[in-house]
Amino acid sequence: MNNEITGFSKFSKEEKINLIANQYFANPEVAITLIKNYWNSDEKLQQLHDDFIENTISNFYLPFGIAPNFLINNKFYTVPMVIEESSVVAAASKAAKFWSKRGGFKTTVINTEKIGQVHFIYKGDFNKLNSFFNQIKPLLFSETEFITKNMQKRGGGILDIKLIDKTLKLDNYYQLHATFETKDSMGANFINSCLEQFAKTVKKEALIFEAFSDDEKNIEIVMCILSNYVANCIVKAEVSCKIDELVDENIENPLAFAEKFVKAVKIAEIEPYRAVTHNKGIMNGVDAVVLATGNDFRAIEAGAHAFASKNGSYSSLSHAKIENDTFTFWLEIPLALGTIGGLTSLHPLVKIALEILENPSAKELMQIVAAVGLAQNFAALRSLTTSGIQEGHMKMHLNNILNQFNASENERLIITNHFKTNAVTHSAVVDFIETLRK
Ligand code: MEV
Repeated sequence: MNNEITGFSKFSKEEKINLIANQYFANPEVAITLIKNYWNSDEKLQQLHDDFIENTISNFYLPFGIAPNFLINNKFYTVPMVIEESSVVAAASKAAKFWSKRGGFKTTVINTEKIGQVHFIYKGDFNKLNSFFNQIKPLLFSETEFITKNMQKRGGGILDIKLIDKTLKLDNYYQLHATFETKDSMGANFINSCLEQFAKTVKKEALIFEAFSDDEKNIEIVMCILSNYVANCIVKAEVSCKIDELVDENIENPLAFAEKFVKAVKIAEIEPYRAVTHNKGIMNGVDAVVLATGNDFRAIEAGAHAFASKNGSYSSLSHAKIENDTFTFWLEIPLALGTIGGLTSLHPLVKIALEILENPSAKELMQIVAAVGLAQNFAALRSLTTSGIQEGHMKMHLNNILNQFNASENERLIITNHFKTNAVTHSAVVDFIETLRK
């Protein structure tokens, strides 16, 4: 089947839906009904969502859950989480409650620097380029003032701009490497606008820089873009307690638990196959709060995994130790987050999420997100090193299967009871439902 579609973006929403339904579904009416069932009945609200992206035909819901009892730097937070995976919110809540009884999470923002680069090609003498850069550097600041004025009022702006010679890696390749402080905004638009203005200044000034030959005047700007690798925008979250205090209903021997836990973390530090999954568990918590608060989870993911490889081999983002009878578990992660601008002021549920968090600053949000990441990691490692991950997972999964089969109240009761003492697997549940229904 040739499914090339021309001019799709020009179609009305109704036309787009009809085209998709007719082209891809044996029963287009059923598809159309389902697509429209997910529209919001409030037309204005629907329009808002339609306008977030292009070619919108419907909404794709994700659950918005709450993990209460996060004690972070002696303040309790109730944390909104948006995620499709069962067990994540339950695990975060359980870990939060566990640590709230043991001093809570201690978090610190280490730094908040953002980065952007103008990538360009210059075919000529480096010394001349260097003096050109030193001459125009004040102009790079002054000619972006129309963009930076407001940010400066909020205490942010361009921190520094450096010329970097990359010609050893790629012929004639240089960068303007700029650092920024963007306060409570994530700053992507701000940074990219500054970079594009830098590029204009460079092009314009190169043409009149006397020491340049005609060839050298012809600087080629390849691209201007922020970097999502923000290795100087780091937050640390930590939990710590005396080993004896680790005791609870599932941890009978706290020393054995702590020692095995530390081993599990050490494995993730030195074994990339494990580290990726270990960090994925951290990102379960991180992404869920990042999404709920309208931040860019792809940027956070890319930056976190790059940071996890900073020493040349992919490694764990978290670490653990036992020292003088004290168990300490901590995480350091780059988080370029915003609490103003972007989706934060547009998406009604993002506003709700931020309000539940009592409208945090970007720095406060960094700390909350890191604490949730650490909690998630603690919960995963605790299950993995004790009962195994499947027990909890499959209990939640059972619920999903029951929903899939539209199980009645009575069926749910019988099935849940049965699987209290029998192992939950997808096929075992399906077989049981089918037998029950016969
Ligand atoms: C599942 O979403 C996350 C875990 O695999 C994390 C881990 O293995 O540490 C449980």
